[in-house]
Amino acid sequence: MTDCICREPPRRLRLAVNIMANASQIESVSAFDVAAAAARIAGRVRSTPVFRLAPGDLVPATGVVLKLECLQHTGSFKARGAFNAMLASPVPPAGVVTASGGNHGAAVAFAASQLGHRAEIFAAATAPAAKIDRIRGYGGHVFRRGSAYSQAMEACLERALATGARLIHAYDQPETVAGQGTTFREFEEQAPEVDVVLVAVGGGGLLAGALAWYDRRIKVVGVEPESAPTLARALAAGSPVDVEVAGIAVDSLGARRIGAIAFALARERLHASVLVTDEAIRQSQALLWDQLRIMAEPGGATALAALLSGRWRPAPGQRVGVLVCGANLDLSLAPGRNPQS
Ligand SMILES: Cc1ncc(COP(=O)(O)O)c(C=O)c1O
Repeated sequence: MTDCICREPPRRLRLAVNIMANASQIESVSAFDVAAAAARIAGRVRSTPVFRLAPGDLVPATGVVLKLECLQHTGSFKARGAFNAMLASPVPPAGVVTASGGNHGAAVAFAASQLGHRAEIFAAATAPAAKIDRIRGYGGHVFRRGSAYSQAMEACLERALATGARLIHAYDQPETVAGQGTTFREFEEQAPEVDVVLVAVGGGGLLAGALAWYDRRIKVVGVEPESAPTLARALAAGSPVDVEVAGIAVDSLGARRIGAIAFALARERLHASVLVTDEAIRQSQALLWDQLRIMAEPGGATALAALLSGRWRPAPGQRVGVLVCGANLDLSLAPGRNPQS
């Protein structure tokens, strides 16, 4: 036997193999998985309200329904995926571990505290202090690692290997996706008239949940900032590719690469991929606040920005659902507070 066969693969290689093994298992999520997730997390998450816009409220079009998932526990839909992942199979004594300095990290910390598990959250230096404080507030143990998400993820994987804690991926894991999909199952029950839904896209867990649940019965439009176009680039390239990300929504929609689950579903089922400017996102936030007193973070206002800016226009008679999916913003940057906005 030669040296190179006997030698244990270097740590980075083992981590890469681990990630790829996960990737090969994450082929698809079905509406059945979403329904199972909904049963699992019932009573743990809020049924968030819908709001039917009157003509002239925000947009001249009629038939627009907002789903206010910004009112979910922890301020975003992420609580759904976190609970589902922790309830789908037993959590080891070492608890759960994830990489996210944002809404997913807060959701994992919250769900873990509710279920009595330890939660370790790896965050890059770029994660906003307000979100890190929130994670700590929910009892999460925060480890700052690296200057980018990928470095925090690498440290998180090493930790999972060392302690046996369960990794809960922010967007590319079937349990996370199925949990996020429960948002749309609930939305359909509340607003059965809707025939096209606008969804913000970062790593694509939320989008994948929508595509899994609706399975082409209802059209799904994925909306991203021009400054973080991971889905649009992947669709153009024919496979997920790394993308430079920046801009106003980078702390929530700043995944550098679209997830494998989301990409596979999007290629088959997505109705449209739309890009919006940072300015349109800011205006969407400002309008939500000025006219409806709804506070949304940039990622939470991104789907609506596609409609308000005219980057996406409904066909005549089409009834549009829009997910307002996050509220965790630094209040000093809130629309109306900043003289530059
Ligand atoms: C408020 C908000 N909206 C949208 C997204 C995008 O979700 P995903 O990464 O599943 O595409 C995130 C992700 O963190 C988020 O926090």
